[in-house]
Amino acid sequence: MNTRIIAIVNQKGGVGKTTSAVNLSAGLAMMGHKTLLIDIDHQSNTSSSLGVRPLTQENTVCQLFTAPAETFNISTIILETMVDNLFLIPSHRNLSSVELDLPYKTNIDNRIMLRDRISIISNNYEFIIIDCPPSLNLLAINCLTCAKEILIPIKSEDKFSLDGIVQLHSVISSIKQNLNPDIEIMGYLPTFYTASTNLAREILDQLKKQFDKQVFETVIGKRIHIAEAPIAHQPVQLYAKGSYGAKAYNELAKEVINRGKEKIIS
Ligand SMILES: Nc1ncnc2c1ncn2[C@@H]1O[C@H](COP(=O)(O)OP(=O)(O)OP(=O)(O)O)[C@@H](O)[C@H]1O
Ligand SMILES: [Mg+2]
Repeated sequence: MNTRIIAIVNQKGGVGKTTSAVNLSAGLAMMGHKTLLIDIDHQSNTSSSLGVRPLTQENTVCQLFTAPAETFNISTIILETMVDNLFLIPSHRNLSSVELDLPYKTNIDNRIMLRDRISIISNNYEFIIIDCPPSLNLLAINCLTCAKEILIPIKSEDKFSLDGIVQLHSVISSIKQNLNPDIEIMGYLPTFYTASTNLAREILDQLKKQFDKQVFETVIGKRIHIAEAPIAHQPVQLYAKGSYGAKAYNELAKEVINRGKEKIIS
């Protein structure tokens, strides 16, 4: 299977990475595509958004980075979710200490652990979506080394939202050169968009000027149902079926699917 591995990345905090990871994954799964969502953030917001809060770090993503090769069994960390076709590797708050120890693991290449360890199951899924931490730390490098495509959410209500993109691009190009030649930016996703504000319109214009067709046609507006869904531990498509947020994330899922088809044709 030609699995599409998509990392949702932006080192800026609070731009809608987790919200987009959860609701995009749910949209893809509800459209019949078997999807694995991996939570690589010690805040575990993705896991919590789907009602999972593991008490111990066993059976979580921590195992990917800590378990010895002889005992590591990936099937023990993949959970079913309330959405058919959607599976989750949950995170745990201890992932932050795992990240601190990672540079000292000198017997392995600690930048490619995620890629290595999910390689045996990646063909079981049509999509693997990775929710990255708000940083460009070693865990984020693992995400970028594992992914084939990158989706970058851009917060439309923050005038500094484009400032970090240069740094992100330079990390991506270094990873492309050294570790992952196949990686590509699939698209920039405007989030928290309020059409009535000049700032949001200006940021969207700037994005389109700079990145043209790489900007998704789908724009995610700022809406209360989208903010409430994780508190109810559900994707927005279940929490508020038929709402603006549910429709917007389903539109994004369709666009993501179509971008994959365009690549095959071109
Ligand atoms: N379109 C939206 N409308 C309203 N609220 C939103 C929207 N998108 C995200 N939020 C809310 O904004 C907050 C930040 O979003 P989210 O957690 O997805 O960002 P993040 O980039 O993953 O943050 P972090 O960098 O801390 O991981 C959350 O409380 C979320 O519910
Ligand atoms: Mg997050």
